[in-house]
Amino acid sequence: MSSDIEALLQEHRKFEPPEAFRAAAQPNDPGIYERAAADPEAYWAEQAAKLEWMTPYERVLDWKPPHAQWFVGGKLNVSVNCLDRHIRTARRNKAALVFEGEPGDKRTLTYWDLYVAVNQFGNVLRSLGVKKGDRVAIYLPMIPEAVIAMLGCARIGAIHSVVFGGFSPESLRDRINDSQCKVLITSDGGYRRGQVVPLKRNADKALEETPSIEHVVVVQRRPGITSGEAFDEIKEGRDHWWHRLMRHAPIWCEPETMDAEDILFVLYTSGTTGKPKGIVHTTAGYLVGAETSSRIVFDLKEDDVFWCTADVGWVTGHTYLAYGPLANGATCVMYEGAPDWPEKDRFWEICEKYGVTILYTAPTAIRAFMKWGAHWPAKHDLSRLRLLGSVGEPINPEAWMWYREHIGHNRCPIVDTWWQTETGSIVISPLPGITATTPGSATTPLPGYSASLLHADGTEIGVGGGLLALTRPWPSMLRTIWGDDERYVQTYFAKWKDRPDLYFPGDGAKRDEDGYFWILGRVDDVLNVAGHRIGTMEVESALVEHPAVAEAAVVGKAHDLKGQAIAAFVTLREGFKYDISLRDELRQFVGDKIGAIARPDDILFSADLPKTRSGKIMRRLLRDIAEGRALGDTTTLADPNVVNSLKEMYESQES
Ligand code: WTA
Repeated sequence: MSSDIEALLQEHRKFEPPEAFRAAAQPNDPGIYERAAADPEAYWAEQAAKLEWMTPYERVLDWKPPHAQWFVGGKLNVSVNCLDRHIRTARRNKAALVFEGEPGDKRTLTYWDLYVAVNQFGNVLRSLGVKKGDRVAIYLPMIPEAVIAMLGCARIGAIHSVVFGGFSPESLRDRINDSQCKVLITSDGGYRRGQVVPLKRNADKALEETPSIEHVVVVQRRPGITSGEAFDEIKEGRDHWWHRLMRHAPIWCEPETMDAEDILFVLYTSGTTGKPKGIVHTTAGYLVGAETSSRIVFDLKEDDVFWCTADVGWVTGHTYLAYGPLANGATCVMYEGAPDWPEKDRFWEICEKYGVTILYTAPTAIRAFMKWGAHWPAKHDLSRLRLLGSVGEPINPEAWMWYREHIGHNRCPIVDTWWQTETGSIVISPLPGITATTPGSATTPLPGYSASLLHADGTEIGVGGGLLALTRPWPSMLRTIWGDDERYVQTYFAKWKDRPDLYFPGDGAKRDEDGYFWILGRVDDVLNVAGHRIGTMEVESALVEHPAVAEAAVVGKAHDLKGQAIAAFVTLREGFKYDISLRDELRQFVGDKIGAIARPDDILFSADLPKTRSGKIMRRLLRDIAEGRALGDTTTLADPNVVNSLKEMYESQES
């Protein structure tokens, strides 16, 4: 079977960087691409020179496919690069983290404040017996302590494993056990949609079966609640209140000298199937990738207020809420709760209140904002915004245009950034002062990266659809999977048998005449209709172009003649109602837009789509529903109820 994917969507709108933006942007010289391509190692050496090294490295790259070492022999400490460097300058008193809790509480930590807290917490960890190379699990809400804990680990060379606060006790337990964490950092709760998420109580369940944990540090997120129902038990000897340990911790903590290739963190990705993989990132390469991409993709300037809305439990939060912006000395906004709490304009209120200049969020959020309506952002002054970013899923052109118009007021460039937990930092993205953007395309690989589009046999596709491959190693690439190097090799470097140097990210993509890449979705989700392989993104984008549609997910459903027929799951924008004529209209609409081959056979209207906790649509479960199977693993779902109600509706709406 051919691995080619049809290219259906025609999108020709192009937006050049506004002149004033271009003039001030760093970089704004298109020559950067050629210079980096001519000598990638020299390019990365230039980026690495932005960091503070304890010992210079001897060699930029040692590449024995599929294993890479970057900045061989170099020594450095990540927390020194994110903090100590800045407190020696006027940045000392600059806001590093501007935090707002869901209930409305606020805290601002200057670089000095953060530096003191991280030093103290490094000492706390040492006092609990944590040593270089030990693993520390972090299971916290989106509060400053999460960043303090991560940097505190980095300071003493402990490896952090952040587990998203929305995960269940079982998920936490499995992640702790997989990497044998010694200490767990959690809190007595976090706020989400007005409710308390009982993190410590979940942790206590996990802790029944995590023999490696010696100590638990508990952040008091809900001071004043010290007894009764809401109080989480503190187990004598094992559990410690964060604030008690911090009170007497010394303010200077000698930073550990870390080798460039020492592990900085492990982060588990659930993927859509199988046991979660502990993605391993190392010190220097990761930081070079995070620092460089934050600086050039977001054009970070001294007075920017950068808001990455991702949770620190995801890689986006690691790289663009913590390490990347802090290495650049930027001011970061951090918000604990839900975007629709107490009202659907919370994000815009925050943008206005803190003067956010750069907003980085996910298509799933943008589509929710579209669904809720443009009157919500219109209530707020968003005039300080100057750059918008998107990450996590393909952004449908319609959502891109909505983002541009209603949030960016046709003034802000949009960077659609493609990358993965495994890549550590952004790989394919516009540079906002250089690249002409097109709705729906992540455009081209950043300087220093090289991507290609391949057939299954490894031959290259010029224009058209196929398998995305990264053809050159990059500093922030994963080094292995924790405890399972064979799985690392098999998952990422075994797609093209005689080319162990080619990285396979698992995504399908197309390339247009301008050389721009369009991510078409996971290849596991590709549809095969009468022998035509069709990416999910293009059919979904066609549906979302219809004024009634807020969000769409399409899947293949077994069909006697065609192999697969297309089933579409659709949520409607506020003010629209489902009826049979709308269904027929949508089928026709997709047929007209991108061709009869892509016209859905079934359309199901629903209030919600099943999503992972990071907001990605789980098409695997939709396939189960469409084919009338028992539902597969639903443990990574954000809201397990969604699939059950979908299943019932599907059965009743099916014609
Ligand atoms: C998808 C998130 C299209 C893709 C940083 C990738 C995207 C997976 C984009 C990684 C984008 C991420 N356009 N698809 N801009 N960004 N993806 O590990 O399928 O949570 O392989 O990392 O998300 O998800 P992860």
